[in-house]
Amino acid sequence: ATSNQITVEGKAYDTDEWMNAPSSILSSISRRLHLQPDHPITITRKLIESRFPAPTYQKHNTLFPIVSVGQNFDSLGFPADHVGRSRNDTYYINKSTVLRTHTSAHQADTFRAKTSEGFLISADVYRRDAIDRSHYPIFHQMEGARTWSRSAVPEGTTLARQVWDDLKTIPKHDLVVEDPNPSFHPDRNPLQSDHHSPEEAEAIATHLKRSLEDVVVTIFSAVRAAAAAAGGSSASTSEPLKVRWVEAYFPFTSPSWELEVFWQNDWLEVLGCGVVRQRLLDSAGVPDRVGWAFGIGLERIAMLLFEIPDIRLFWSRDPRFLDQFRERVDGKITRFKEFSKYPPAPRDVAFWLPRSTPAARTPDSTNEPHSAPNPAGGLAPESASNAPSSSTTTNSPSASVSSTSDPPPAPASSSTATTTYPPFHENDLTELVRAIAGDLAESVTLIDAFAHPKTGRQSRCYRIVYRRLERTLTSEEVAGLHERIGRELVARWGVELR
Ligand code: PHE
Repeated sequence: ATSNQITVEGKAYDTDEWMNAPSSILSSISRRLHLQPDHPITITRKLIESRFPAPTYQKHNTLFPIVSVGQNFDSLGFPADHVGRSRNDTYYINKSTVLRTHTSAHQADTFRAKTSEGFLISADVYRRDAIDRSHYPIFHQMEGARTWSRSAVPEGTTLARQVWDDLKTIPKHDLVVEDPNPSFHPDRNPLQSDHHSPEEAEAIATHLKRSLEDVVVTIFSAVRAAAAAAGGSSASTSEPLKVRWVEAYFPFTSPSWELEVFWQNDWLEVLGCGVVRQRLLDSAGVPDRVGWAFGIGLERIAMLLFEIPDIRLFWSRDPRFLDQFRERVDGKITRFKEFSKYPPAPRDVAFWLPRSTPAARTPDSTNEPHSAPNPAGGLAPESASNAPSSSTTTNSPSASVSSTSDPPPAPASSSTATTTYPPFHENDLTELVRAIAGDLAESVTLIDAFAHPKTGRQSRCYRIVYRRLERTLTSEEVAGLHERIGRELVARWGVELR
């Protein structure tokens, strides 16, 4: 084995200059929160699975997270220059191997296996992203799909009629649904007219939408029952539940939609879906099948099911968190009760960027590639940090940051030569903070950015909030972490602290 090899759960991978997956991320692969008994992610997964029964839908919950670029992007028709492929957004092991960024990475293979008409794939997914109460670089998704075989349509009926027949098995609901647009739109949401008649696409779209509305009804009935049991009579328990279908775009579905739920006075995006592109089914060896697919973020659903205020809590090993959740046969949910009120410790870091560095990206632009469910927020605060982190280590900063090449280490500076640095990206700071402070870092927020009126030099100021679940952090601990972050910023990106 060369020194450029890593082993993850017994599988060896050659790394190259694309490698940007830190060891803190790789070592979390083994957690598999969606399989932990009584974990809120597991409970959420099972609640959704209960609406998609076997044998029509077959479950796959143990697919390995390291996949090829072909599986994650090419098989789904992502163009070569798609921003989702960037090393700023995606963790690479090497040029052709990534940590899956979504469960859609397994669509083609699962269609190819031809083991069932439908499937559900639940798994951990990975994206470089901002840190805050509703974003974490690892989260969980469930992929669902349902197909019908043209060649299996019985004599005397049609594919469209068969899909409408299957629709009758989905329970009726009294949800308020806004769905103002026709099922397809020639430019924004085109019918795959080479492959589907309008009647077929309409039937598939309706089956898809009714199936997912049924999921929403199931989730929100549980939320309301839990709220009522907790003695609440808030607006969220009394008003009729409202959802809306919004046109969307994914390279592997057409037409495509996102489903939004009106929750605590806001439209909350809960999933992406659409009619599967025929070219995907063709290249997966099932050209006579047509159907739909969806992808849903489990953390976002779990956060509102249990009223969990901070996404980092899912990673906690603290029994005061874990012991609050139980899988129940009746599907009843009990809400999370806050147990830590230790204070946050905000610290600011302000610096000048080196002259050549382009402006940092804003966090909002980071998750566009799949334009869907990175778990999210609008959820009330009061929080806590959790779980041990690398912060207690006495290693050199670069050792705890990771053994990888992203960002490339700053060249050792000789006193005379001018050093060139890689451009500074906000996600790089996020990852640096996570590597040094681990889950003790609650958020990283840009609070000020300006250019010097005379020199044009760019200034940035970020606020890092530190907080520990179990006790108050001492000011020495916070200062130690914060100083290391400042030092690494200087060494890696050539910034000048202000
Ligand atoms: N994979 C998409 C995402 O993560 C969601 C999706 C799944 C959309 C299946 C359509 C069909 O954003």
